[in-house]
Amino acid sequence: MSEWLQCIGCERRFEASEIRYTCDCGELVNVERDAMPDRNLFDARLSSRRTIDKSGVWRFREAVLNVDEREIVTHPEGSTRLYERGGIFFKHEGENPTGSFKDRGMTVAMTQAKRLGARAVACASTGNTSASLAAYAAQAGLRAIVFIPAGKVASGKLAQTLAYGATALHIRGDFDAAMQLVREASDRLGIYLVNSINPFRIEGQKTIVWELLQDLEWNAPDWIVVPAGNLGNTSAFGKALREAFDAGWITTMPRLASIQASGANPFYRSYREGFTTRHRIAAETIASAIRIGDPVSHRKAVNAIQVTNGIVEQITDEELMLAKREIDEMGIGCEPASATTLAGVKKLRAAGVMRDGERIVCVLTGHLLKDTDAIMRNVPSERTIEIDATMDAVKRALTGA
Ligand code: F0G
Repeated sequence: MSEWLQCIGCERRFEASEIRYTCDCGELVNVERDAMPDRNLFDARLSSRRTIDKSGVWRFREAVLNVDEREIVTHPEGSTRLYERGGIFFKHEGENPTGSFKDRGMTVAMTQAKRLGARAVACASTGNTSASLAAYAAQAGLRAIVFIPAGKVASGKLAQTLAYGATALHIRGDFDAAMQLVREASDRLGIYLVNSINPFRIEGQKTIVWELLQDLEWNAPDWIVVPAGNLGNTSAFGKALREAFDAGWITTMPRLASIQASGANPFYRSYREGFTTRHRIAAETIASAIRIGDPVSHRKAVNAIQVTNGIVEQITDEELMLAKREIDEMGIGCEPASATTLAGVKKLRAAGVMRDGERIVCVLTGHLLKDTDAIMRNVPSERTIEIDATMDAVKRALTGA
């Protein structure tokens, strides 16, 4: 099976072994391949005990990356749970090894980095990509450098990133400034860039969708709902669905719903204008993971919405924090950005866009413990009661007597 890079604009092709994130015409590139296997192959691997088959990414390897098995850098990752609560499915990508969906793309990008002989890898990040990069670089034996917006990353994510051994450059600016800077630095300093602008990241993240389809025994849901920030996931989901449909793995096409925070909504603004304009804004939201005003994968994400007859919605910080509390109180939990999904579902149901009886899968992108500050600001104060170490005090606290 052969693989190549292909411009999403002019369709020019490049070798897969070339270090390239964009075409000479300026558009992004995708990884494309000439054949897809039968889905039964993936189902057969579910009973295997081999690490490579247990990885929810590499179980789909023929459709992810054509590579010698011995070259694969895998934790393993993926194989996350699909919960059903209150008639909605939740695919919990916070159950990946570093607590976010980023591990799915990182295992592929890091495998490619090693094949290309990279010595150092870098990304700009709101925290999850940096934690994932640091963990996989540690495994691969590569130097990890992360560009993060100073003071704007949740403490759990920053601690993880440093603990795994990365060097953190705290950029005095927002995520979008860090993103621009890391692109330039990678070009000039010969560092391999593993943001989702890297097409191999997208190949790994496709498996979120394929795995949830497999969880549902390939009965496609009506909707797949995903938070939207830098738009890597939206892009990956669109590509995954197109490929699954073309390969005959599913016979109906789910609709994608990409949800943005209203203070960080450049993609929503474009959607409302029929994608005639690409917006760049100064972003602000409590969901620091998606505080992004100039998403790099804009054009790929537009394709994703169009190919799935999808929609883009926005919700307020209040709506997303309310939804987060609901998800937390189901005993599942997620970080704020992930809760945009349930908040979006509620809004879209109220508007009659999503109808009763439709099967909906929300993708929870990050673990509850990633952002504990957001929790402590959000839980009702009556849940925390400090008392003397006496039985009387316990009784008083629990019964009010
Ligand atoms: N949810 C979480 C928990 C994230 O960390 C991110 C992105 C998203 C959703 C949005 O996904 O960018 O593919 O649209 N986090 C990046 C990071 C930007 O640096 O960790 P997207």
